[in-house]
Amino acid sequence: MIRQLITTASLALGVSLVASAGFAAGAEDTYIEDYDFSFEGPFGTFDQMQLQRGLQVYTEICSACHGLRYVPIRTLSDEGGPALPEDQVRAYAEFYEVFDPTLFDGEGDFRPATPKDNFPESSLSNAPDLSLMAKARAGFHGPYGLGINQLVKGMGGPEYIATLLAGYTGEDKEEAGAILYENTAYPGGWIAMAPPLYGDDVVYEDGASTELEDIAQDVSAFLMWTAEPKLMVRKQAGFNGVLMLSILAVLLYLTNKRIWAPVKRATKKQPAE
Ligand code: HEC
Repeated sequence: MIRQLITTASLALGVSLVASAGFAAGAEDTYIEDYDFSFEGPFGTFDQMQLQRGLQVYTEICSACHGLRYVPIRTLSDEGGPALPEDQVRAYAEFYEVFDPTLFDGEGDFRPATPKDNFPESSLSNAPDLSLMAKARAGFHGPYGLGINQLVKGMGGPEYIATLLAGYTGEDKEEAGAILYENTAYPGGWIAMAPPLYGDDVVYEDGASTELEDIAQDVSAFLMWTAEPKLMVRKQAGFNGVLMLSILAVLLYLTNKRIWAPVKRATKKQPAE
C-alpha cells in the first residue's frame, strides 16, 4: 500500500516536472525586451505626452481592427491620463460611430459617439479587444515558469505588446487558408495579425521619434493606461498607507516604552534592595 502510494506520488511529481519544464521551455522560446517605461517602479507615473502619442497610434492604426470597449471616451481628459482638453475629447469622440438602441423608436441606429460613450468594440471579429490586454498578458515568466522574474521586472504586459509589435521577422506562411506571420514575441511564433507598424507610420506633433520601437512603446504605454487608468492614484494611496503605518509604528513603539517604563524602573531597583 505504502509502496504503491510512493510510486504514484513520484510518478505524479515526475509528470508535473516534465509538464512544467515543457511549459517553461515554451515560454522561454519567446524573447521579451525589458523596455523602461515611465510608469514603472513605486513612484513611476504615466508620461502624458507619451499617452497622447499612443492614443494617436491607436486611433490611426490599431482601431481599424481592435476595439477598446471598456474604456469611456471621456476618460481621455482625466488627470494622470492623456489629459486632453475637453473640447478636444468631444471632437475626438465624433470620429467614432456607436450603435444607439434608443434611436428610431427603439429600433436603434448608429450615431456619432459622444464623450459619454465607450470606445467601439473590435471591428474585425478575430482581433481581440485591447482595453485590458496590457494586464492580460505577461511578458516575463521564467525561470522554469515560476514567475520569479516578475517580482523583479514586473508582469511585463506592456513590454510584451511593444516587443510583439516590433518582433516580426518578415516571414509569413499560409495555414488552413489563413496567413500567419512569424513573430519572435508571440507564443508559438506565428500570429494572425499582419505587421501593423513599420516605423514612420505616424507624424507626431511633438516631434518625438517615430522609429518602430518608439511608436510600439508609445502605444503600449497607452494600452497600459487603458488597462489600469488609476495606476498613479493606486501608487499614491500605497505610499500614503506606508507612510501612515510607519508613523503608527513609531508611535506604538514610544507608547509601549512609556507603558512599561514604571515596571522596568521597579525591576531595576529590586537587586539593590
Ligand atoms: C489589420 C487588422 C489589425 C490591425 C491594424 C492591428 N491588429 Fe492587432 N491583432 C489583429 C488580429 C487578427 C489579432 C489576433 C491574432 C491571433 O490570434 O493570432 C491581433 C492580436 C493583437 C494582440 C494580441 C496578441 C496576443 O498575445 O494574443 C495585440 C496585443 C495586438 N493585436 C495589438 C495591436 C496594436 C497595438 C495595433 C496597432 C499598432 C494592432 N494590434 C493593429 C489584427 C490587427
